[in-house]
Amino acid sequence: MNGCMQNHKRNYVFLLALALPIPCRALTIVTGPYLQNASETSMTVMWITDVPCTSWVEYGTPGTLDQKAIHSRHGLIDADQTIHRIPIEGLSPGKEYEYRVCSREILKFEAYKVTYGETITGETHKFTTLSRDKQSISFLVLNDIHQRDDLITSLIKMSASKPYDLVFLNGDILGHIEDEQQVIRHVLKPCSDLFAARIPFVWVRGNHETRGKFARMLPNYMAAPQGGYYYAFDHGPVHFIVMDGGEDKTDASSEYSGLVDFDRYRARQRVWLEKEIQTEACRKAAFRVVLIHMPPIASERWHGPTDLYNTWRPLFNAGKIDLMLSGHLHRYMVVEPEKGIRDYPMIIGGAPQAGQATVIRVDAAPDKLEITMTTDAGQVVGTYRVQRK
Ligand SMILES: [Fe+2]
Repeated sequence: MNGCMQNHKRNYVFLLALALPIPCRALTIVTGPYLQNASETSMTVMWITDVPCTSWVEYGTPGTLDQKAIHSRHGLIDADQTIHRIPIEGLSPGKEYEYRVCSREILKFEAYKVTYGETITGETHKFTTLSRDKQSISFLVLNDIHQRDDLITSLIKMSASKPYDLVFLNGDILGHIEDEQQVIRHVLKPCSDLFAARIPFVWVRGNHETRGKFARMLPNYMAAPQGGYYYAFDHGPVHFIVMDGGEDKTDASSEYSGLVDFDRYRARQRVWLEKEIQTEACRKAAFRVVLIHMPPIASERWHGPTDLYNTWRPLFNAGKIDLMLSGHLHRYMVVEPEKGIRDYPMIIGGAPQAGQATVIRVDAAPDKLEITMTTDAGQVVGTYRVQRK
């Protein structure tokens, strides 16, 4: 091909490109909304858009969306971001609300002029705030899904016949975390699509979720009291204590490349737990339920669970814990209390294999907790009743 013909072809391609319509891209909600950090007087709504936006939530009592929630920090309204986290505050306990999320695209963010694009409005959903006065509540617990989101789908769908108030994701729902897409695909999207637009999920970090280059970004996608992975809250007759046991091996293990500090982290949580079990909310609750991914079990091989056994377990006994819900072992089991060793039963959920994955359902009434553990195959593999002491 001579030079003249090459130039002719290049010009032709250029003119063709000019003639083609520019594809019209629409602002999109990539995932969500999903509810986080529920309390008696607040609910946090989160979602993710494909381009940077500023966002708000329209909400109100059923049939109305006459109020608007925004989020600002240090006087600045959140803007130019794709992850949206809007706490709605000043709500009443145990009340139903309607809401919808709204995001406005920011095309250009200049110091003295922000150019906005289109606005997107999500569908209307409902949620109910928590309430200590609610007589009976129910909640579900999933653990060790290890990115098998088909298992989340089957376990949640098979739980749909009876209502529930909360879903606890009790660790290792992901594997090691590499990027945002993984968090969206294996946690946020399946949960949002199945239940989390109307029922909050509570994130309990598993040891695998401390691994990978994106693990340090995970708190950006969740909301919890004080923003951490250990905290307590109340709903109905239950005082929930969520704890983070960190990793299973020693901090010096080569797998962690010198980048973990879990002994000190567990020691700080121990100090927190010592105070927590003395709070009025904990002492006066009808039931105290602990959610922790790694069960505190002494073992010559595993440092993390042994550390929990030695340092946290005595406090769980002193705090008169009624029930512990765990995972990590990839083997479902019901562990009876052992007086003076572990004064509370442990229900340990299953593994990320078909027929071995479990959903634990807890129905809490003023006088008892009824626990049922069912596999994704629909087989009940554990039941337990805790009577009020
Ligand atoms: Fe684990």
